[in-house]
Amino acid sequence: MKVLVVGAGAMGRNHLNGWLRAGVDEAAVADVDEDRARGTAKEAGARTFFTDYREGIESFKPDAVSVCTPANLHADVFEFSVKKGVHTLCEKPLALTLDQGRRMVRAADRSELKLAIGLQRRLSESILKIRGLLHAGTLGSPVVFSVENWAEVRFKLAMNDKNMNGGPIVDYAPHLIDLLHFFTGAQPKEVFSMGTVFARGKEEVKPIKELATDTLSTIVRYEGGNWLSLDISWGLPRGTKGTNSEAIHGPLGSIVGTPELERGYHLQAQGKPADEYEAVQGNLYDREIAAFKEWVLKGKTEHSLASVRDGFSALAVSVAALKSVETGSVVKVEQP
Ligand SMILES: NC(=O)c1ccc[n+]([C@@H]2O[C@H](COP(=O)([O-])OP(=O)(O)OC[C@H]3O[C@@H](n4cnc5c(N)ncnc54)[C@H](O)[C@@H]3O)[C@@H](O)[C@H]2O)c1
Repeated sequence: MKVLVVGAGAMGRNHLNGWLRAGVDEAAVADVDEDRARGTAKEAGARTFFTDYREGIESFKPDAVSVCTPANLHADVFEFSVKKGVHTLCEKPLALTLDQGRRMVRAADRSELKLAIGLQRRLSESILKIRGLLHAGTLGSPVVFSVENWAEVRFKLAMNDKNMNGGPIVDYAPHLIDLLHFFTGAQPKEVFSMGTVFARGKEEVKPIKELATDTLSTIVRYEGGNWLSLDISWGLPRGTKGTNSEAIHGPLGSIVGTPELERGYHLQAQGKPADEYEAVQGNLYDREIAAFKEWVLKGKTEHSLASVRDGFSALAVSVAALKSVETGSVVKVEQP
């Protein structure tokens, strides 16, 4: 099996090493930044690199492509790869806009290829155990997934840039939006959000032309009455410690992350003593890539990788949250 990783930055390196550890026959990388493409290939022990992903796909003829560019380019790379008949694993978020996301859904719907979105938290042992607990009704109904993630301005400019990765509600929240869907099977329906830009005026973000909304309090209602309550920021001053906590509460008890649910949790239900679970700290990117490889080669995998429609659903919530910030009203989540 041959693989091409498009985008040789932080995630590109993770994917390239993940594919090589998964035992593919050959892997190559493509990046518009030639030094980065060459350096990443060399560091991982891959022989081939390209500066144009189209040329890479056409001449290297990979069986699978990993899309690891900034979010605003996912749709172009994904569409090209699918058009060339290549199985494609695309990093989250699905895309930056609903138009781009719809192009990807249309391409996926027309195709028989194996296509997945990199929402790797689904492969955590801890997340799978929590899913089992929720299916068994351990917390009762409804459940509220409560997340507080307050962080300093990001070190990578694209993450605070409205036109590249789109800020935390587009770039980070998909993991959380998707988890409540993964836990319960229910789709997100409507969103209310307040938001602002804490990074405005800060020296570190001066090169960014249009800052993303970086600080939001968002409530997402799902079918069946569960909801996600998300307080998130990438706008605190550098050096601020911030906060990070994830918990699921229901009428019968709570599952509290340590601090994130994927790393482990303690469960307290029906007032009984807490049950602690410490997750085995595996590399979730490697696990996701191995599952995708198994799916491509054997036609099935034991893991539920996120589909393009799952990715769209999360993106549609992010877009609805930003619209709600603008309008001050509750916004319905759009369909593909
Ligand atoms: N799954 C996760 O938990 C997770 C974590 C971090 C980042 N991500 C996602 O991974 C993606 C990449 O993030 P990153 O942190 O690696 O960013 P990065 O900035 O480190 O790397 C992006 C790379 O893409 C390259 N690039 C830009 N345009 C290109 C093009 N036309 N063709 C080929 N390469 C191009 C850039 O030169 C850069 O090297 C983003 O979508 C991000 O949201 C996912």
